[in-house]
Amino acid sequence: MADMLLSTGVHDTIPSNYVRPENERPHLDHVIADANIPVVDFGASDKSQIISQIEKACRLYGFFQVVNHGIDAQLIKKVLAITLEFFRLPPEEKAKLYSDDPAKKIRLSTSFNVRKETVHNWRDYLRLHCYPLEEFVPDWPSNPSSFKDVFGSYCKQVRQLGLRILGIISLSLGLEEEYLVRVLGEQEQHMAMNYYPKCPEPELTYGLPAHTDPNALTILLQDPHVSGLQVHKDGKWIAVDPKPNAFVINIGDQLQALSNGRYKSVWHRAVVNSNKERMSVASFLCPCNSVLISPPEKLIADGSPAVYRSYTYDEYYKKFWSRNLDQEHCLELFK
Ligand code: SIN
Ligand code: FE2
Repeated sequence: MADMLLSTGVHDTIPSNYVRPENERPHLDHVIADANIPVVDFGASDKSQIISQIEKACRLYGFFQVVNHGIDAQLIKKVLAITLEFFRLPPEEKAKLYSDDPAKKIRLSTSFNVRKETVHNWRDYLRLHCYPLEEFVPDWPSNPSSFKDVFGSYCKQVRQLGLRILGIISLSLGLEEEYLVRVLGEQEQHMAMNYYPKCPEPELTYGLPAHTDPNALTILLQDPHVSGLQVHKDGKWIAVDPKPNAFVINIGDQLQALSNGRYKSVWHRAVVNSNKERMSVASFLCPCNSVLISPPEKLIADGSPAVYRSYTYDEYYKKFWSRNLDQEHCLELFK
C-alpha cells in the first residue's frame, strides 16, 4: 500500500480514482481570492479588544488568524523545512511508517481514509499523537535527525498557544477564562503534517475535500508561499492566502457544540495546483475521550435550548471516522 504515497512518484496525469464526479469539483475560477479572515494581534495590550475580535470572528467566520503569538519565527521555519525534508525522503524510508489504520498513534498515509473512500485526495500526511510528549516522541521519526527536537519544542509551544486561545474563547462566551480548558480535560493533541504534491489536473480533485474538524480547536501553520486553504462563507469559497508567521485558527465541531451553536465549525477544504507542491502542519486539540460534551447552563438559558444532545467525545470521534469526510455536518447526527 505504501506505493499509494503520492510523494514517491512524478505525475503527468491523475489516476481515475482521484477524479471527482462533475458536480463535486472545486470550480477554482469561482473562488474569492482574498478571504479577509480576521487577523488578531496577540501582542496588543488591550485584552478586551482581542476578546471582542475573537468573538466576532468565531461567530461570523469560524476562523481567524493570529500574529505576535509568541511562537518563535526560527522554530516555525525549521518546522516547515523538516516537513518538506520528511516527504522528500526515499520511498523505502517512508514505507516503514506507512499505515492505513486510523487508530495508530503514528502513521504516514495518503488521502484521508483510504480504507473507506471510493475517490482519493491529492495528499500525503504524517499523523502523530503529541501529548504527553514523553509517551509519543520515542516513536517519532529520527530521520530527519532533528525531527524529534524541533517538533517536540513546536508541539509544546503550540499547546500553550492553544490553551491561551481557549481561555480567550471562554471569556468571549461570557464564561470564566478557565472554563473550556477545564471541561475539555487533559486534552489530547494530534498533529497532521500535510504534503500536497504538484497536481497536473487540479480542477478534478482535492487535497482535502470540504470538511469540518471533529476536534475542539485547530491551529494551522500554512505553507508561507503557496495558497490552498479555502473557507466556506455565505455560499462561496474564499481563499485564505498565507500570511508570514501567522497561524490560522479554526473552531472544531466540539466548540460549536459547547458554545451551543453560537460559534461555527465551518466547512473548509484544501485545493491543489499544478505549479507548486504545498504543505501545512495542523495541530488539533481534542477533548479527552470520556468528556461529556454539553453546553454550560449559561448558554442554554435565555430561551436558547440545547441544540445538540449530550454525548461523549469518544462516541463522536467514532462516528466521524466511520463516515466519509465530505458528508453532511457530523454534528447534525447529534441533534
Ligand atoms: C486541514 O483542513 O486540516 C488542512 C488544510 C490545509 O492544508 O490548509
Ligand atoms: Fe480541517
